[in-house]
Amino acid sequence: MTMTELDRSGGGPMPAGNDLAVLAEGLVKTFGEHRAVAGIDLAVRPGEIFGVLGPNGAGKTTMLRMLATLLKIDAGRAEIFGVDVAGQPHMIRQLVGVTGQYASVDENLTARENLWLFGRLQGITSQRAKHIAVELLARFGLEEAADKPIAQFSGGMRRRLDLAASLITRPPLIFLDEPTTGLDPRTRGQMWETIRALVADGCTVLLTTQYLDEADQLADRIAVIDHGRKVAEGTPDELKTAVGDSTLQLLLAEPGAVPLAVEVVRRVLGSDPILSPEHGRLNVALDRADLAADVLIALRTAGVSIVSVSVAKPSLDEVFLALTGHGTGSENDMEDNR
Ligand SMILES: Nc1ncnc2c1ncn2[C@@H]1O[C@H](COP(=O)(O)OP(=O)(O)OP(=O)(O)O)[C@@H](O)[C@H]1O
Ligand SMILES: [Mg+2]
Repeated sequence: MTMTELDRSGGGPMPAGNDLAVLAEGLVKTFGEHRAVAGIDLAVRPGEIFGVLGPNGAGKTTMLRMLATLLKIDAGRAEIFGVDVAGQPHMIRQLVGVTGQYASVDENLTARENLWLFGRLQGITSQRAKHIAVELLARFGLEEAADKPIAQFSGGMRRRLDLAASLITRPPLIFLDEPTTGLDPRTRGQMWETIRALVADGCTVLLTTQYLDEADQLADRIAVIDHGRKVAEGTPDELKTAVGDSTLQLLLAEPGAVPLAVEVVRRVLGSDPILSPEHGRLNVALDRADLAADVLIALRTAGVSIVSVSVAKPSLDEVFLALTGHGTGSENDMEDNR
């Protein structure tokens, strides 16, 4: 790729060529004895939102940092839009916007000053940096807060400013490392809208998340990472289908009838339902959606009365459990946020 192809001042932020946005082959990072990333392949297409989903310590951040030239690649190789990451780090930094860098900028400066300074640090002229700051503050709904010091910002405002800062140079590829961790549901929703708008604008997004619903909502394709390895990849639908066709969700009139219902399901399907922590609620995994009728008829015959019934695709939570043999890390504080 030539520098001319990187000049996007006139058009959308998409480089020329048919290269993948990210191509990684056998990426490895070892810390001491510990292989944090143990041979990951990745192919992110231009214009998509690609989600990397995994629990705490899975290796998500380490992988992003290697792709962004912030960490040395120990083995394997990677390209961003056809540019070799290890060979041309300077070029890669022009192609990739990384959030999380912003924390290093001055807390006592205002949002506007911070964006301006960030632009100047990237070699943009003072006047142009001012102009870009105004544009970005408007786009991220930070106009009112523009002249407040960052120290007074809420978590959600910081995330938005962080993302704004990563867009100053209009990179065609954005890395978002857990963009909504710790945000309240409304602010998360706004962040999702912002991310979708970036993609509509021509950006490619590689995001990491521990939130199954976030990957499901946002990502065109998902790689599930566990202990530094990719354990599955596909569209949200493909991953759900891999686990079983559907789930029958039942709410019993009498929570006391749960043991009987479990027995009936076991008799009909040969497997146990998953009990929900909510009283009287159970989920029955089905190989075929039409088995739902057999289960319902058997329950009625046994005298178990049901308040509500629905058939749904399994959640990504169930997908994760099926793929890795464990949940998404119930010990972490993210558990309540889905
Ligand atoms: N600089 C480092 N030195 C030593 N070990 C590290 C370093 N950075 C990460 N690790 C280890 O590598 C593993 C992967 O960490 P990483 O931060 O990539 O996980 P993650 O998937 O981003 O987790 P989280 O969801 O908690 O952010 C962890 O076991 C972590 O302790
Ligand atoms: Mg991380």
